[in-house]
Amino acid sequence: MYRLEKARAEDAPRLQALVAPHAAQDVMLPRTVESIVQTLPDWVVAAAETPAREVIGGVCLTTLAPELAEVRSLVVDPDWQGKGIGRRLVARVVEMARARGYQQLCALTLVPEFFLGMDFRPVEVADISPKVWVDCQHCPKYECCDEYALVVDLVPNPVLPNYRRTDLPLPKKSPNWVPLDLVS
Ligand SMILES: CC(C)(COP(=O)(O)OP(=O)(O)OC[C@H]1O[C@@H](n2cnc3c(N)ncnc32)[C@H](O)[C@@H]1OP(=O)(O)O)[C@@H](O)C(=O)NCCC(=O)NCCS
Repeated sequence: MYRLEKARAEDAPRLQALVAPHAAQDVMLPRTVESIVQTLPDWVVAAAETPAREVIGGVCLTTLAPELAEVRSLVVDPDWQGKGIGRRLVARVVEMARARGYQQLCALTLVPEFFLGMDFRPVEVADISPKVWVDCQHCPKYECCDEYALVVDLVPNPVLPNYRRTDLPLPKKSPNWVPLDLVS
């Protein structure tokens, strides 16, 4: 059994350790313990209901623009994957983002199927350009990006500014990148 909770400062090293192996494989951005402590109110953790209260997953809601937030650092302990924890973490972050007044929530991910199952829809990376200006331009995969951009609307008819900028190119797609097959 586990439950979703606000993150505590003492959870930061464990969250950093959960993210680290995926960051080492360029699947996620790395997190430092300090960056987690500094953003503590933006995190939700899944904690096993054991005496030791082991943190088995977490996710961080990150502001990209006044209207647009991102699901960042979503991770579930491999021993606990496939039990619906990731889905519950994202559902909680959707609630948080809506309560904080964002219009859209996005993800840039290598596991688009997971997000498609949670009502996200694919978009062009340009549609979530603040992500590009904040993070992608520093990413080693900028010239060869294999990730998928997805969004979910948090209000019925979101009104988002045109984020596109002409002074920075968008990330180049990897030759292995293929559009999502939404039919089968
Ligand atoms: C992605 C991740 C968070 C999913 O967590 P999880 O707790 O295993 O996911 P859930 O059990 O809630 O799965 C929910 C649904 O997504 C599907 N799903 C989960 N992981 C998936 C994957 N890697 N690829 C495709 N579908 C996946 C499940 O089959 C399930 O579908 P169902 O409801 O039809 O059965 C977890 O696999 C993880 O930590 N991966 C490594 C880090 C990572 O890639 N994070 C995402 C960064 S954007």
